Amino acid sequence: MTSPVRFALTTPLYYVNDVPHIGSAYTTMVADAIARFHRLKGNDVLFITGTDEHGQKIQRTAQEKGVDPQVHCDEIICSFKDLWQHYNIQYDRFSRTTAPNHAKIVAEFFQRVWDNGDIYLAQQQGWYCVACEEFKEEKDLIEDHHCAIHTNKQAEWRDEENYFFRLSKYQVQLETLYQENPDFIQPASRRNEVINFVKQGLQDFSISRVNLDWGFPVPTDENHTIYVWFDALLGYVTALLEDGEEVTLENALKKWWPINLHLIGKDILRFHAVYWPAMLMSANLPLPDKVFGHGFLTKNGLKMGKSLGNTIDPIALVNQYGADALRYYFLKEVELGKDGDFNETRFVNVVNADLANDLGNLLNRTLGMLKKYCKSEIPSLDLATIAADHPLKALGETLGDRTCAAYDNLNFTAACQQVLALIQASNKYIDDRAPWALFKAGEQAQVEEILLTILESVRLAAYLLSPVIPNLSNQIYRQLGFPGDFNRPEDLVNLAPFASHSRWGLPWSERTLTKAQPIFARLEVPEASA
Ligand code: MSP
Repeated sequence: MTSPVRFALTTPLYYVNDVPHIGSAYTTMVADAIARFHRLKGNDVLFITGTDEHGQKIQRTAQEKGVDPQVHCDEIICSFKDLWQHYNIQYDRFSRTTAPNHAKIVAEFFQRVWDNGDIYLAQQQGWYCVACEEFKEEKDLIEDHHCAIHTNKQAEWRDEENYFFRLSKYQVQLETLYQENPDFIQPASRRNEVINFVKQGLQDFSISRVNLDWGFPVPTDENHTIYVWFDALLGYVTALLEDGEEVTLENALKKWWPINLHLIGKDILRFHAVYWPAMLMSANLPLPDKVFGHGFLTKNGLKMGKSLGNTIDPIALVNQYGADALRYYFLKEVELGKDGDFNETRFVNVVNADLANDLGNLLNRTLGMLKKYCKSEIPSLDLATIAADHPLKALGETLGDRTCAAYDNLNFTAACQQVLALIQASNKYIDDRAPWALFKAGEQAQVEEILLTILESVRLAAYLLSPVIPNLSNQIYRQLGFPGDFNRPEDLVNLAPFASHSRWGLPWSERTLTKAQPIFARLEVPEASA
């Protein structure tokens, strides 16, 4: 037997300046669907998420609340974990930058970079956006030195001695990396952005702060605190340590490094696609395979965010609509890589059309007809004997490969649309063939063929959509009498293996249908936006 493919992916480690909002939930939903797809294929997956807890932004937030920063962080991370549960996110590791292990990993990494001669002391002058935790160039600021992303926050002038990382030394190496690995930064538009940025000439950046206690001291100079990003990026590495293992970089890196995919928002692309690989080069460590920068969820065109305060409460949303509906909407309707405005009315209309009408009704009406025309017994028919030009078989037989290619390319929109096309074709097939008329005419064999080919199409759709709508897929599999729980990947491998279940034409002879129940109740358009 070949050993499973290893796949490790990360979300950003979220700032804990406030409880999570729908933007943080978006990245994590996407990452969860990717992780689930790989688990479905039988791959060995490590899905890392977590929180970025140091730095000025967090220290100030805690100060304003009048609590100790650690107490503040401990409180906020509960809302992240709770949110992930509500959205049915199955992460494997939750990396906290205040975890005791992390200090040691950061110190060891710092030392490597130091030993390589890439850290030096110099004067830093510039405008600092605390919300971004980043120095900004004058040209990147809008009126009155406000940040272009956090338009309600003014950048602060800093003039202090900092330790710098010699980023400029890695200019050529980075350019070669982008050239030789065209997939390293995706999508292509972001890749071009980074290439253009690097082309202008890289400048060293400061990796320490003074007058800041909330963070790790620079190992070689206790008067300085390590810059929050230099600390946070290493949270990806700390997360790789096994429980109880001695905390060393070598141990952390031995199984899961290099990470296959860092999924991030476009605002933090530079950190992941320029600074992070250069830091790793300096420490003489292998680089991650891919950085994907997705777009923003916006409200009236502005990035939704904790700092701007224009967010939607993800808990209220999921309590009202359920996880699968939201996952489906965000994955299908917001093309990964592009910005997407969240509009509640549109959301309700899309999920009602796709999940309640097209998918839910299809299952329901087919099971209804099976009851009426076949006493709810599965027709004893071998799908392999169905003609190759049968419209559902023809579509279904290539669907597994097409959908997997879309998932592999992180094109969830295409994956969902392709599966939906089979569902829509199935509805059309019922209308075209009118099994009720065939039944009346005594054409039992034809009725049975129609109904079974539709059930098989619904089954396949449920299987292929399970990374996106696992609970609905479970309900469909249950009603059709198939084993395997999409929330228990370890069981799936044996009970619903990818090689057979991702293909149209599975044997049905041993299946017994369970009670038919509507799988998705239509949602109501909210009154305010109706
Ligand atoms: N702490 C850093 C990441 C460190 S990773 C080592 C950070 N945190 S954040 O909480 O501000 O943002 C985390 C992620 O959420 C980013 O990828 C960001 O793009 C994403 N989003 C925040 N608001 C968003 C939207 N409105 N829409 C989509 N994603 C957004 O940056």
